[in-house]
Amino acid sequence: MHTQVGIIGAGPSGLCLALLLSREGIKSVILERQNREHVESRIRAGILEQGMADLMRKAGVGARMDREGLLHDGIVLAFNGRMERIDMASLTGGKQVMVYGQTELTKDLYDAVLQDPNITVIFEARGVHPVSFLEGKPAIEYVQDEKHVRIECDYIAGCDGYHGASRASVPRDMITEYERIYPFGWLGLLSDTPPVHEELIYANHKRGFALCSMRSHTRSRYYIQVGLDEKVEDWSDDRFWDELRRRLPPEVAEKMVTGPSIEKSIAPLRSFVAEPLRFGNMFLVGDAGHIVPPTGAKGLNLAASDMYYLSTALIAWYKDGRSDLLDRYSEVALRRVWAAVRFSWWFTSISHKFNDDPIEHKIQLAELDYLMSSKAGQTTIAENYVGLPFDPDF
Ligand code: FAD
Ligand code: DHB
Repeated sequence: MHTQVGIIGAGPSGLCLALLLSREGIKSVILERQNREHVESRIRAGILEQGMADLMRKAGVGARMDREGLLHDGIVLAFNGRMERIDMASLTGGKQVMVYGQTELTKDLYDAVLQDPNITVIFEARGVHPVSFLEGKPAIEYVQDEKHVRIECDYIAGCDGYHGASRASVPRDMITEYERIYPFGWLGLLSDTPPVHEELIYANHKRGFALCSMRSHTRSRYYIQVGLDEKVEDWSDDRFWDELRRRLPPEVAEKMVTGPSIEKSIAPLRSFVAEPLRFGNMFLVGDAGHIVPPTGAKGLNLAASDMYYLSTALIAWYKDGRSDLLDRYSEVALRRVWAAVRFSWWFTSISHKFNDDPIEHKIQLAELDYLMSSKAGQTTIAENYVGLPFDPDF
């Protein structure tokens, strides 16, 4: 079999990239290790920047998002018993973020991809690995129903997440990996209860970080910082709700509507960047190339700029025979990646408990107090939170 672009991974990056290419008549085959239900049920991102929302519209899958997503103009920082709002829209010339769950976004992408004549998706593909991408003869090999299959392609997009096969196939002396693992994780709980507040609350507390988020007016998503040795089985719903309330200002805790969890899981926190993002005819996209701690809600939104740059570059190649954008992909994508890695690291550093030394917490409170007293301080949070622009020259 031959296709133009072989895509490894049918998460949001692989699916949306395939749709953006298909609009220009470019054909792709997507290889996914799991089945559709498994990918769709992963409860992860909830906040889309305007850049990601625009890309969904461009890919032709924005209608339900625009109907059901909630637009937010601000966020709240809670610390030292205070509730301080950052009015993102007024600080950024009107930019907003959209609350729309990754589960819903992935469903919309699958509905479109599975009807698209330019896209073939192969689920439950085992042993997927890219080959010969450094020799100009890229192909993807995999096993299905005990048969070995090889798909020849012009280019490979590695959209297979942090644990995928694409990055792992690159010779070690061609890649540099920068990584920080944080000494804590996030325990998340999803429940069919009304959100405690109409905007997200990011809370710094001496017991640890807490986040109040949502999926709709009737579904809430909450997170608390927990130690790396914590097990989800040890957290009953009651224990979670009690700990969450203790980390929030009393007026918020009192309003909290609790209920049974629909899902509970622990995610580790990591900063990771691979350099470069191009290896011959293979490109890394999204979590395959970089991970940020979730504090700034940036992971999926960074995948968005990769998808935008790579789809633009591939379209320029197929339509106009131009290779200059493909040559610049890694450098341009990495610039926005590092900006988000920095913001996510910084926002994590002022909101989480890193150790028991009380001076650390006092310094965090002083920084939050300063940020809220300064328009420049609030603007730096707002500009980064709504998302830095994509490179206008690309
Ligand atoms: P993935 O979603 O990881 O998809 C990769 C796909 O590749 C998967 O379907 C996988 O099964 C498949 N795959 C892997 N290996 C192979 C293989 N060998 N062969 C074939 N297929 C393979 N981001 C935000 O922007 N905003 C948020 O609010 C936000 N909140 C988050 C909260 C949490 C708790 C977590 C954990 C993440 C959050 N993120 C957020 C990050 C976001 O979920 C990820 O950045 C996003 O899923 C990346 O998409 P992706 O398609 O690049 O990778
Ligand atoms: C959500 C996740 C985040 O990482 C974040 O910063 C905000 C919201 C969420 O899952 O709703």
